[in-house]
Amino acid sequence: LIAAREGAAVLATQAPDAPPITLGKVTFDLDNPYLPEEIEMEALGSGGYPYKESLKEKAYLEELRVLQIELVKLQKWANDTGQRIVLLLEGRDAAGKGGTIGTFLEYMNPRSARHVALAKPSDVERGQWYFQRYVKELPTKGEIVFFDRSWYNRAVVEPVMGFCTPEEAELFLEEVPHFERMLIHDGIVLIKIWLDIGREMQLKRFHDRRHDPLRIWKLSPVDLKALGMWDQYTAARDRMLKASHSDLSPWVVVRSNDKKRARLNAIRYLLSRLDYDRKNLAAIGEIDDKILGKGPKFLK
Ligand code: ADP
Ligand code: AMP
Ligand code: MLT
Repeated sequence: LIAAREGAAVLATQAPDAPPITLGKVTFDLDNPYLPEEIEMEALGSGGYPYKESLKEKAYLEELRVLQIELVKLQKWANDTGQRIVLLLEGRDAAGKGGTIGTFLEYMNPRSARHVALAKPSDVERGQWYFQRYVKELPTKGEIVFFDRSWYNRAVVEPVMGFCTPEEAELFLEEVPHFERMLIHDGIVLIKIWLDIGREMQLKRFHDRRHDPLRIWKLSPVDLKALGMWDQYTAARDRMLKASHSDLSPWVVVRSNDKKRARLNAIRYLLSRLDYDRKNLAAIGEIDDKILGKGPKFLK
């Protein structure tokens, strides 16, 4: 009975049909409940991922707890000293942006830490200066804001999906360093993280979402369209990293086929960037330089 009810729930929110994708000898059909073994097996190693196994749950939870304690201290310090912190996460669909932010926020005081995931722009917003709706969400003193996608939509999703013109995307890449310089010179701490996943991992995660009634809401029409546009996304990602990585406002790239290693290293990076009270360097530990690196060169 439960299975039947679940089945009904899946049908009720069913995603539209996606065309099959061919990868070498393998055909990927999102709607087929069977995921080809090749994709399952290649997922973790895809895109040149440096580990053959994901981190064990127990080790992950132990390390995470220690880092979350540091995040609590960091937030207290930010509150007391009036810091304004922006951490933005970008990445392909299913890279793990939302889940990573959830991990940062788990034990933070929700009064001064926010998750911002804006919907597609309304007509009013479309008529405004492009950056305007993001500016509205910037932190006040003492606040930490996590952007789940950001103004960088105009560098990747929008040009690839045809939501903006090539000229608009071009102008954005020219203007964004100036925009960010204003924020940084005003004292905002800006951290930009690109979560990187391999192709098979993206297919596997889309497939998991498609066949899980608890996750199917995460599968959007944009995701379905993105299924066959891997190379366009790659080109747009590379252009973006090249145009908007600088010493003042660096991009941090985190290899994210294993969500656990990705989250731990992203948290370590934020902690390493700030000198908060009672910082425990031993607890933070070392950033794994096979997982986290700076700028476009890290992906070469
Ligand atoms: P997400 O992956 O964040 O769950 P989607 O896959 O639906 O959401 O969309 C990806 C991004 O593209 C979102 O930031 C969304 O706001 C943006 N987007 C979707 N449709 C449009 C549109 N028509 N114009 C501009 N941006 C859009
Ligand atoms: P190209 O480097 O021209 O092959 O384009 C690679 C990707 O970047 C494409 O998927 C486009 O969506 C996007 N793109 C192409 N031209 C532009 C442009 N002028 N500005 C921004 N993005 C672009
Ligand atoms: C992610 O997994 O990267 C985010 O939750 C966004 C998505 O792909 O739906």
